[in-house]
Amino acid sequence: MPYLGVDYYPEHWPDEMIKEDIKGIKDLGANIVRMGEFAWHLMEPEEGMFDFSYFDSVISALKEQGIKIMFGTPTATFPAWLAHKYPSILSENEDGQVRVFGGRRQYCFNSELYRKYAAMITKRLTEHYADEPAIISWQIDNELGHEGSDQCYCEKCHEQFHRYLKNKYQSIDTLNETWGTIFWGQTYNNFNEIPVPKQTITTHNPSLKLDWARFRSNSINSFTHEMTGIVRKVKGEHQTVTTNVSGGFFDKSFDHEENVKKMDFVSYDNYPVWGGLEQPIEPASIAMTHDFNRGLLNKNYWIVEELMGAQGHDVIGYLPRPNQAKMWSYQAFAHGCSDMLYFRWRGMTKGAEQFCYGVVDHDNQYGRKYKEVQSLFEEIKENDHVLQSPIKADVAVLYDYDNIWSWKGQVQSKGFDFNEELLRLYRPFYKLNTPIDVIPTNRDLSNYRVVVVPVMQVVDRHLSQKLEQFAETGGTVLFSYRTGLKDRDNNLRLGEILPGPVREMVGARVEEIESLTGAHKLKLTGKGEFAHTYGEISVWRDLLVAEEADVLYEYSDNFYNQYAAVTQNNVGKGMVYYIGGGLNEEPLDRIAKNILSSHGITFIETPENVEVYERLVEKESYIFVMNHSGSLQLYDGEELEPYTGKIIKK
Ligand code: GLA
Ligand code: ZN
Repeated sequence: MPYLGVDYYPEHWPDEMIKEDIKGIKDLGANIVRMGEFAWHLMEPEEGMFDFSYFDSVISALKEQGIKIMFGTPTATFPAWLAHKYPSILSENEDGQVRVFGGRRQYCFNSELYRKYAAMITKRLTEHYADEPAIISWQIDNELGHEGSDQCYCEKCHEQFHRYLKNKYQSIDTLNETWGTIFWGQTYNNFNEIPVPKQTITTHNPSLKLDWARFRSNSINSFTHEMTGIVRKVKGEHQTVTTNVSGGFFDKSFDHEENVKKMDFVSYDNYPVWGGLEQPIEPASIAMTHDFNRGLLNKNYWIVEELMGAQGHDVIGYLPRPNQAKMWSYQAFAHGCSDMLYFRWRGMTKGAEQFCYGVVDHDNQYGRKYKEVQSLFEEIKENDHVLQSPIKADVAVLYDYDNIWSWKGQVQSKGFDFNEELLRLYRPFYKLNTPIDVIPTNRDLSNYRVVVVPVMQVVDRHLSQKLEQFAETGGTVLFSYRTGLKDRDNNLRLGEILPGPVREMVGARVEEIESLTGAHKLKLTGKGEFAHTYGEISVWRDLLVAEEADVLYEYSDNFYNQYAAVTQNNVGKGMVYYIGGGLNEEPLDRIAKNILSSHGITFIETPENVEVYERLVEKESYIFVMNHSGSLQLYDGEELEPYTGKIIKK
C-alpha cells in the first residue's frame, strides 16, 4: 500500500486535541504524517538543552493508530535565541540589509556557526529516533533555497566566493583572461578585489554572474550534503532520507540534481495554485514539474505537500473547485508520484500561515475537502503496483543550470522567460499524451528517440557531439533559438557562425538576430509539406539561411522574408529541427506529431484539457484520465465530469 497522509503540526494545537486529530487522520485513510520540520525550539529550547519528550508522546499516540512518520530536520527555522546570540548566522540581501529573524530560512549557508548548530540539532534528533520503528523517513530541512533564501551577499559569502574562484582559476590572470575583465578596465590584481554581484551602475560581467550562481549552488548543496551525511550516518537502517523540492526550481541558483544526489528519493511540494493567482498554472506546466522531479533521480518520487485548500501568506487566490485538487493528485500519480501527503491537516489559527488552508479548516469540521481526500485515498490505495511501476519515456526535454543562469543574467529579450520557453517545446508533446522525461544535459540519451533542447545557448563541444551522435544514430533533435551562442564561461565565440557547435547538424546558419518583446509578433509562412499553413513568432527571432536543411517556415515581413524561421535537416539516420524563435502552438503541434509518427511512437489525441497517461505494469495497461476543465468532456466514448481523475484498467 502506498504511504498516504497529511502534514501534521501537533505543536500548533492544545495537547487535548492530539488524540482527536490522530483519529481524524486515521479515518481519512492515512497511514503516515510528516511533522517536526519547524520545531527546532521545541526540541532545543535553550542552547544545548535537547528535549524530545513532546514528540516522544506524539509519536506514541500515532503508533497506537498504526500511523508512520516522516520527520523533518528543523533547520529551516532556527530558534530566536540562536539568532540573538549569533546574529552573524543571518543572511544578507543584495542591498546589504541583514535579514531579521521572523520569517524562515534567513540563515546564511556559509555561516560556520549556523552549520555547527544545524549539525548538532540534526545529529541529536536523528540519534534520538534512529531506532524508532514508526519513523520511516527523514526530510532534510524544508524547501531548501526557496522564497529567496538561495541568495546571500554577506561578508562570509564574499570570502567564500573568493575562495571558490581561487580554487577554480588558480591564477588571477586566468580569471581575467576567461572573464574578459579588460573590458571596462576591470582587470583584477588579486581575487579579493572581486565583488559579489550586488547593485551597480549598468550590469556586471556575464562570467562573474555565472560563477556567482555556481557558487550559490555549491553553498546550498554543500550545506544539504553535510546535513544529509549526518542523518545517513546516524539513522536507522529502516529509515530513508529525502528533501522536499519547491516549485520554481528553474528560478533558483542551485542545481537540483546535485542537491538531491545523496537522497533515497525526491519529494516534491505540488501547488498548482498558490498565493494570489486568479487561476491555477496550466496542466502542461503542472505535468512538467512532475516530470522534472521524477527526472532528478530518474525514479518515482513522493509528494509531501499536495495542495487541497487555497494557499497563501498575506494574499490568497483561487479556490480549487470540488474534485480539482483530487484530480491533480491523479495527475501526480500518473507522472510517477508513488506516495502522497496533503498539506496540511488543519489550517493554523495563528502565525504567518493562517491563510494556508488545509484538509480541515479552522472551523475543525470534516467537510468537503476532508471527504475529497478520503475518497482519493480509498480509490488509490489498491493501485500501489501501478504507482510503483517505472515510467519509460521516448521523449526527453533537456535543461542545464549553467544555461538557465546564463539566461537569468541577461534575458536579451524583454519577453523572455526560461520556464515559458521550456514549456513552449514541452507542451506539444504533452498534448499528445506521451511520457516525457525532463532531465539535465549530462544524462545518457541512448534510451530516447526524441530529444528536445529548449533555448540552449550554452553549448560546449561535449554536448554538441553527444547530440550529433544521437541524431546520426536515428534520433530526432529539436532545438529552439539562440542555441550554441555561448561557451561554459558565458562568453561568445569569436569567428564562429551560429548556431555555433551545432551548425553542421542543424544544416543552417544564423545570419542576423532580432530581440522581439512578448507583444511583438511576426507572421510566418509554411513551405514544402507545411505550405498553405501559417505560424507566428514572438520573443526572439534568428534569421536563418538554410544550408543543407529544408525550410519549414519562413518570415513574411519586409526586408526579412527571404530568411527561414524553422528548418529540418536529415542527419545520418536521424533528423534535426531548429525553431528560430518563440513559435506559436499550431506549427509546433504539427511538428511534434510528425516527429512522433516518424518514430512510430504511439500517442493519444484528446480534447483540450483532457490528459491521459498510460502506465504499463508487466503487460497490463492502466490509463490515468484527468479532466482539467470545469466542463463535461468526452474521452474514449465516455463522459468525464468536471475535474474527474481516475484510472481505467485496459
Ligand atoms: C511550502 C512550505 C510549507 C508551507 C506551504 C504553504 O510548500 O514547504 O511549509 O509554507 O508552502 O503553502
Ligand atoms: Zn552569506
